[in-house]
Amino acid sequence: MTRRIEIPAGQLPASGARAALQIEDKHLALFNVDGSLFAIDDSCPHQGASLLGGDLQGRIIQCRAHGLRFDLASGCMPNVTNFGVAAYPLDITEGRTFILLPDRPSRESAQ
Ligand code: FES
Repeated sequence: MTRRIEIPAGQLPASGARAALQIEDKHLALFNVDGSLFAIDDSCPHQGASLLGGDLQGRIIQCRAHGLRFDLASGCMPNVTNFGVAAYPLDITEGRTFILLPDRPSRESAQ
């Protein structure tokens, strides 16, 4: 199951820009690439550096710490399918933008 959480319009990056977003305990990085929005965890899966300030080429973000690259759409490294950063779907409906986040584990399943 997923949760659908609205992102306030004022927190959405303009075309060509990026923005940090915190939802609950998640620190996310939003990118607007030529009008298309992408949302990923703002934490590199290698050693946790922020990806928000990485070098962006098209929709490939390169971590500034050690240079790993991730596709903003899938979160995967190019040509690698089993290692990457979490990427979250966005749903734009009637001018409102929602991010789809996985449900939190319940207390019973977390124990
Ligand atoms: S922390 Fe991102 S490549 Fe090492």
